[in-house]
Amino acid sequence: MEDMKDIQWFPGHMAKTRRMITKSLSLVDAVAELLDARVPLSSRNPELGRMTGRKPRLVILNKADMADPNLTAQWLQYFRKQGAAVITADSKSGKGLKQFEPALRTLLQPQLAAYAAKGMKGRPIRVMILGIPNVGKSSLINRLAGGKRAKAEDRAGVTRTQQWIRVANGVELLDTPGVLWPKLDDQEVACRLAFTGAIRDSILDQEALAAKLLRLLHEEYPQALLERYKIPLDAEGSGFDLLEMMARNRSMLLSGGVANIERAAITLLDEFRAAKLGRITLERPYAEEATP
Ligand code: G4P
Repeated sequence: MEDMKDIQWFPGHMAKTRRMITKSLSLVDAVAELLDARVPLSSRNPELGRMTGRKPRLVILNKADMADPNLTAQWLQYFRKQGAAVITADSKSGKGLKQFEPALRTLLQPQLAAYAAKGMKGRPIRVMILGIPNVGKSSLINRLAGGKRAKAEDRAGVTRTQQWIRVANGVELLDTPGVLWPKLDDQEVACRLAFTGAIRDSILDQEALAAKLLRLLHEEYPQALLERYKIPLDAEGSGFDLLEMMARNRSMLLSGGVANIERAAITLLDEFRAAKLGRITLERPYAEEATP
């Protein structure tokens, strides 16, 4: 999905996506909604529920390898309390994906029983993967398919039809995932998605973004900042003050001993995205903004 990463979401795109999803919905038994376990709320598309209606939905908290395990456990509980089927996954290594098929079978138990009653026991379970750009849709499909991924037809004049990729035990995935738009009109959401690298940096000023992230990390994960950047646990000041501290402690200096804030900002964002600060989750369930 390389080409989709930097897409600008205009109303026309959204309408096209809605149509594509609605069309594909009739072909599948369930949808799998991929969320980023580090920002489960911000990586949700607010319209998905409306688009998929009563189609059974499996929530996958992806990138769980980079998220705080304690908070991931709380998020699992949060989604389960809402009645959702939910699993965690690391689509890079494949960890957690063994839960995919059993979770689908549990979710679709009534439908599978009805098929069995009609003598359609071997009928495959068909699923469509959905999620915002960069959440790991392609990685998940490739991992589940284990290299068996169908080759897309790209000869001129040949209409590309959607294909099914057979994954574990009678489960088939639609080879084209639904790319949902993030809710960028919400500044807080846009910032959290930018922290994780899900949206383009140019949308927001790097230094302001890094300052905001550093402030947030200092509140939630002060120990990580102490260990990596020697920022004292009781440090005070704005995010920019903390960036300056980080620059000095890492000897990022310009001539005249001025702290190189720009370099510190880029380093922080890079290192956070590469999980060098440890496993961090930026959203807590049951916080004020977590109200569904
Ligand atoms: P998309 O189709 O939804 O747009 O996402 P895609 O699979 O392209 O994944 C986006 C980036 O996230 C990729 O990194 C991918 O490797 C990484 N990723 C996906 N799932 C996981 C996961 O569960 N854990 C971790 N740690 N990373 C994940 P990239 O930097 O674009 O490429 P690369 O590092 O794989 O080369």
